[in-house]
Amino acid sequence: MKAVEIKPDIYWVGAIDWGVRDFHGYVTPSGTTYNNYLIMDEQITLIDTVKHDFSEVTIKNIRSIVDPAKIKNLVINHIEPDHVSSIDKVMDLIPDAMIYISDRGKKGLDRYFDTSKWKFTIVKTGDTLTTGKYTLLFLETPMLHWPDSMVTYVREAKLLISQDAFGQHLATTARFDDEFVKCASHSELEDAVVDYYANILMPFGKLIKNKIADIQKLGLEIDMIAPDHGVIWRSSPQKVMQDYLDMANGRAALRVAIIYDTMWHSTERMTIPLMQGIKDEGVDCKVIKLRATPMSGAIKEFWKSRGCLVGTPTLNNIMFPSVAEFLTHLRGLRPQNRITGAFGSYGWGGGAVKEAYEEFKRMGLEVFEPGVQVVYRPSSEDESQCYNFAREFAKKVKEYDGKF
Ligand code: FEO
Repeated sequence: MKAVEIKPDIYWVGAIDWGVRDFHGYVTPSGTTYNNYLIMDEQITLIDTVKHDFSEVTIKNIRSIVDPAKIKNLVINHIEPDHVSSIDKVMDLIPDAMIYISDRGKKGLDRYFDTSKWKFTIVKTGDTLTTGKYTLLFLETPMLHWPDSMVTYVREAKLLISQDAFGQHLATTARFDDEFVKCASHSELEDAVVDYYANILMPFGKLIKNKIADIQKLGLEIDMIAPDHGVIWRSSPQKVMQDYLDMANGRAALRVAIIYDTMWHSTERMTIPLMQGIKDEGVDCKVIKLRATPMSGAIKEFWKSRGCLVGTPTLNNIMFPSVAEFLTHLRGLRPQNRITGAFGSYGWGGGAVKEAYEEFKRMGLEVFEPGVQVVYRPSSEDESQCYNFAREFAKKVKEYDGKF
């Protein structure tokens, strides 16, 4: 897709990746984009590059506006390879350009590339670069979500180039949020924001709150947020910031996600009375079978719901492998502000439900014990027990609202 002017003399020159479905393990059914931006000013400045497969695409987009050799500055906000792995191709065209990067960004870049011939200016929070009519202010955002991460604020354009933050994995010809909503829907866009936050930013809620507070303290006026993935927030930049704050504060729908796997359908059968008990308590419920759902989809459903019931058969006295994988993945994301419970079936020894609770406690999540276990096949009494457990769990989930 050709370059798009997003602000006077500031252009999106990125690439759309329609085909990516596995983004380092994160399943991306809607593909993604790698966004980078060209500022046409007295000192022409490029902000970020793109994934290496798309180096020719961004260079072509830049060329459609200016001879790349005229670029004076390259700002690198983040060194993860989806943004920096074409830097060598870009630097071949602009060997004398100055690279503006955080200290930790430079140290990381040295590990990926031979940087000895490139010129660098190390920047920290508060440093600026005047390109002519525009002033770029750099703000470090360490661990959001890599140590090197920073964002660039273009003062006169009221534009925050936010790197991964506020991104979405959406391949689309819409470059702006309002365009996307017109051709798709608000709910699709919101779902993409939650999916991205849950799978990438969930561990960093406290840092997100602090960084947004820093931006507010600095009194930066923002009327556009341009992330490095997905659409640019032109019509609702304040809303997406508020959504991030709400998620960082643990906001979730009054809903229970039942996330399970099954061997011979016994644990699966338990989900029916469980779901009904939750529903009869007036709480929405979504049932997710792990081997039928990408891991990142299950993580998103967990994050969207205030409560989660995990179902696991016992296999060789421990959890079913796909459930263990899910909980391991979840633990790495350091979830908070959710209430959890477990259920499952076993043949002779049992042990999986106990293990699931141990995992929840290890994560510091609130638990509703003791869960429900059935031998071999749920009887009608077992189904009643599931139903009653679910109703009590749903009551807890409703009470839990006060904790956010
Ligand atoms: Fe889109 Fe952290 O890279």
